Amino acid sequence: MASLTWHGHSTFSIVTAAGIKIVIDPFFDDNPRSDLKAAQVEADFIVVSHGHADHFADCIPIARRTGATVISTFEIASFCAAKGVEHTHGMNIGGGWQFDFGRLQLTAAIHSGTVAGDDTGTHTTICSGLLFDIDGTQVYHAGDTALTMDMQLLKGHVDVALLPIGDNFTMGPRDAARAVEFIEPDVVVPMHYGTWPIIEQDPQEFVKMVGDRARVVVLEPGGQLEL
Ligand code: NI
Ligand code: MN
Repeated sequence: MASLTWHGHSTFSIVTAAGIKIVIDPFFDDNPRSDLKAAQVEADFIVVSHGHADHFADCIPIARRTGATVISTFEIASFCAAKGVEHTHGMNIGGGWQFDFGRLQLTAAIHSGTVAGDDTGTHTTICSGLLFDIDGTQVYHAGDTALTMDMQLLKGHVDVALLPIGDNFTMGPRDAARAVEFIEPDVVVPMHYGTWPIIEQDPQEFVKMVGDRARVVVLEPGGQLEL
């Protein structure tokens, strides 16, 4: 059975039933709530929603050390290749691809974007959402985003939704609860909160706002959910 682990902020790892290791939005060393350091992380694939440092900071070092394939928007994949990452796969929003671990489709998100470490400014990219099919379970990582009407398109296609609730930079708890109404997932895991005071939230307030619309699983860093 596949499992999902939260590492604080928007950083997750998934191990598929076949043992393939996926890391999403690797932010370990400068993440005050992470349970791991980047040097400890094993990965076969690294999937990046956008280039902000709190989603991308440890991507290139982990990819170089492990040989993992970096999957992201075309611009971020190209930036990683230019920085010496051997295996990359560029995509764009709306497109999907069948990987060894299952299918991944990039979905719409509303957010700004730069690529941390890009001195040339040529790799600017907006954020994408990440819709995975892992061993038949549909997992949606929303990235950094506002509440969008496009989330209604995901209804019926998501079993587990990973949603930002931190407010200020992304949806806050109230809009994230509306996203749950739009998406109708079975399980919701809140993310992108509690890392710094500016995105401090009480996840139990979010649990109350969601009510009986979905099962909210509040993880601690290092906490796991079976998919
Ligand atoms: Ni961001
Ligand atoms: Mn962020």
